[in-house]
Parts: sequence; structure tokens; C-alpha cells
Amino acid sequence: FEHGDVSGEPRMYTEILEQPASVERTLRGRLDERFGTAHLGGLDMDARDLRAFRRVKILGCGSAYYVGQMGASMIEELARVPADAEPASEFRYRNPIIEPDTLYVAVSQSGETVDTLLAVEEIRRKGGRVIGLVNVVGSAIARACDGGIYLHAGPEIAVASTKALTTMFVGFSLLALQLGRVRDLSVADGRRLVNGLQRLPAQIEEILKTEDHIADIARDLADAESMFFVGRVRGYPVAREGAQKLKEITYRHAEAYPTSELKHGPLALISPKVPTVAIVPADELTDRNVAALHEIDARGGPLVIVTHPEVDLGDLHARRIDVPRNETELDPVLLTVPLQLLAYHASVHLGLDVDKPRNLAKSVTVE
Ligand code: AGP
Repeated sequence: FEHGDVSGEPRMYTEILEQPASVERTLRGRLDERFGTAHLGGLDMDARDLRAFRRVKILGCGSAYYVGQMGASMIEELARVPADAEPASEFRYRNPIIEPDTLYVAVSQSGETVDTLLAVEEIRRKGGRVIGLVNVVGSAIARACDGGIYLHAGPEIAVASTKALTTMFVGFSLLALQLGRVRDLSVADGRRLVNGLQRLPAQIEEILKTEDHIADIARDLADAESMFFVGRVRGYPVAREGAQKLKEITYRHAEAYPTSELKHGPLALISPKVPTVAIVPADELTDRNVAALHEIDARGGPLVIVTHPEVDLGDLHARRIDVPRNETELDPVLLTVPLQLLAYHASVHLGLDVDKPRNLAKSVTVE
């Protein structure tokens, strides 16, 4: 079992299954039910420090950047502070303006990704304040930051990141909650999110139980040379991450698009040979999402829809993957889990080495 663990399963598979336990570890000791907030001692900042930030800038590479986009949405929604994510690899080459009232957040599983590390060093050189969301304790990025949140996902070996990403999302939820509660987020809303976070491990477990159904869909998808992943607003980074995972371990072409942009170009490529995986949570955009998917259906494009049980897809021809619903802000992490299994089973079906995708290294430590 060269790349697998003692059970003989690929590492990626065992890491997918470990997610409920990893998420529990990320949350442990950090939730405050009474005040509906989070306590992140590693930030080393009091309420006054946290209130002083007028902007949040998140930096990471690859999948860490996509989770950063999910984190930025959550921070804007819960704390009402402008937030955005940018690939660290781009940020550091464009002579960025570093502002004293911006909270910079570097996100990395390995803590060794050179582009993220050099972005942190550049920010600090210019007097900016950076915290890290890092898995590997004592890693270069963790040491270079002013403080941070360790993810406690456990060691991640497979090149395709899974449990690190779910715990990054949870780390961002804790940060958004704490930033929100020193601003305008009510105690009731804070408690709603604390309860939601506590439900996540069991809900991830529930999704993992639907593996056979997802594997069946994955086998069909694996035959397509090219496909789309689409989602809107909170669902868009989920789609990006789904496409990334599929590309990495199946070598299939997968392109992520905001669902709303389909009609501005990519619809021209839709055909019975090009499937679309669509993220359609039960939220304020469900009807618009379903309407856009009718455009794909009408052109014979096969559809796989990752959604919530309460969503009525009407007469759409589609295979659906249902995930349990949580609080709207936290739903993206649950919508991501089936996409990991989808990529994993497509790769296994194609007879590829899941843990050692060609041309990729676990962490990119050279420029
Ligand atoms: C994820 O599946 C990828 N292998 C890759 O995009 C990864 O997330 C990226 O290289 C960043 O790595 P890091 O989290 O260790 O910094």
C-alpha cells in the first residue's frame, strides 16, 4: 500500500471519511453557546482590536483560495465588513496597497506554500497585520503570521485536499462569528450559528452514507471529456472547488462558472456530451438557479444537481444529490463534500492513482 494507509484504502478516501472528526477538533473549546460567539485565543486580539478592522483580505492558493472566497462571503454576511479573497500568487506580484485597518488572513494546509508565505512576508514588511488559518503546527506560514487559528484537521497526505478544506471553512465560520459578534450580529443569530456549527459533523456523516449513490453518478461523469460546474454567490466557490478536485485526480476538463453567466457565453458549449454539475441550495436564488438550468436541459446537457431535499426541481431532467440543510451561511461546506466523493469515484473508475496525480505536488514550496 505505497500511497494508502494501513487499511489499504487511498489516503484521499480515508481523509474524506475523517472529516466529521476533523471538524469536531476544529470546533473543540472554541464555541460559546451562552453568548453565541467563538473564542479564538490564537488571534491574540481583543474586541477593540477586532472592531477596528474596516476590511478583510484573504490570501491562499488553489483550493485554499476557493475556501477563502467562501470565507469572504461569510465574513461579509455575518460581520458586514467588506471582505474578499485573492490568489496569494497574484497578490504579491502586483505591489499591493497594504492598509493598517485591513485584517489580512493567510490560509494554507501545509503552511509551506511559497506564494502564500511570501505574500505574508510582504504584508508584514509594509506594516500590515496578518493572521494564519493553517493546519500544520509550527510551519513557515504559521511562524510568519502575527497570530492565527490552527485547523487541527490531522495530517493530510493526499495531494487532493479534503479535510483541510472543510476545516478551513469551519475556521472562517469561527472568525466570521467572532468578528460579527463584536459588531452588529445579534446574540440570537450568534446562537443560531453556534448550533449550526455543532450540527456539521453529524451532517457530514449523513452525506458520507450516500456514497454509493454518488459513486454511481461519478461513473457516468467520468466518461465525459469536459464538463461544467456552476453555482451562484455562496455556491460559486463550491463549484470552483468541485471542478478543481475533478481536474486534479481525473484529468478531465472541468470549468467552473457562475450560473448567472452561462447565457453570456458558455451555453454555446452545452450538448449531450458536456454534463453540468450544478450547486442549487435552498436559498433566495433557488428559483433563478432552476430557471438557468432549464436552458441547459433544453439543449440536452446532462445535469447533476447538488441540492437540498426541500428543493423542487420540477420537470428538469437531472440526477440529484441531496445534502442536509444547515444555516444558509454554513451550507457551502456541506455542498462541497459530495463533490469530493464525485471526483474520488470518477478517478477510481478511470483506474487512476488517486493519491498521486500527475504533475502535482502536495505543497508547492519553490517559485
Ligand atoms: C488542493 O486539492 C490542491 N492540491 C491545491 O490547490 C492546494 O490547495 C494548494 O496548493 C494550497 O496548498 P496549501 O493549503 O498547503 O497552501
